[in-house]
Amino acid sequence: ELPLTKEYLKSINKIYIIACGTAMHAGLSGKNTIEKLCRIPVEVDIASEFRYRDPIIDEKTLCIFISQSGETADTIAALKLSKEKGAKTLAITNVIGSSITREADYSIYTHAGPEIAVASTKAYTSQVVLINILAIYFAEILGSTPSSELTKLKKDIFNLPDKIEEALKSSEEIKNYAKNIYQEKDVFFLGRGIDYNTALEASLKLKEISYIHSEAYAAGELKHGPIALIENGISVISIITDKNLVEKTISNIQEVITRGAKTLVVTNQNLPANNFETIITVPDTDTLLSPILAIVP
Ligand code: F6R
Repeated sequence: ELPLTKEYLKSINKIYIIACGTAMHAGLSGKNTIEKLCRIPVEVDIASEFRYRDPIIDEKTLCIFISQSGETADTIAALKLSKEKGAKTLAITNVIGSSITREADYSIYTHAGPEIAVASTKAYTSQVVLINILAIYFAEILGSTPSSELTKLKKDIFNLPDKIEEALKSSEEIKNYAKNIYQEKDVFFLGRGIDYNTALEASLKLKEISYIHSEAYAAGELKHGPIALIENGISVISIITDKNLVEKTISNIQEVITRGAKTLVVTNQNLPANNFETIITVPDTDTLLSPILAIVP
């Protein structure tokens, strides 16, 4: 139902993904996958910034809007602006018939059922899945990634429900950890690469649900200022799922441990257990899909 031709996709020189909050964090995963599989530059923007800053858009730009509700005013305004400037617009939403679907050239649906919990894990995970499927679809049309790699990624997507079940088996460990930190005033989240995206979403959720102040940092950026805030007893939660970045992230965690931080690591890698206070393991999957599993704990 998405009539985007090879000719059209080849003519695009930029994709914008525009959204707010959690949906924007899902968009960050979209950037990773689309750039990797399709080799088209992708910029992710916050709708409330995008709409007021005269973005460079023309008919060679594809603008993708992610909105669970399909009713977020800034996202809809950004869509209208993109259309006026000649871009094709594609909405990713959960709500059939929502305002955004009436404005967008094309709409695709997460079909995740009504969103009830603030944690919104279902909205986030289904948005990340759908934007990955979209990237695979574009890559198939473009022939930009070997089909064997795309087939493997599709299999990994089909295996996600079982792996989420597995991730949920850590619920007792997670509860115990929560009991230890629920009175904290500040919590830091660290990650590199795709794990930084998960850190951003995790930090948003901690703030919204627990009213605990938290910050997410790209682990390598910590030393450029925020490390000053890491003092004795502070809780630092790190996410490590990209095997190419394990050592780099561990060395950043060592820096915070040296300053007295208490550390939790959420990972799908085999890490030396004695280095960290708590480790919560999530199942392994393709790195592009890892936020879907890592966000569950
Ligand atoms: C976080 C949350 C918000 C929404 C944001 C966008 O739990 O719910 O950050 O993600 O307000 O909402 P939608 O996706 O409906 O446009």
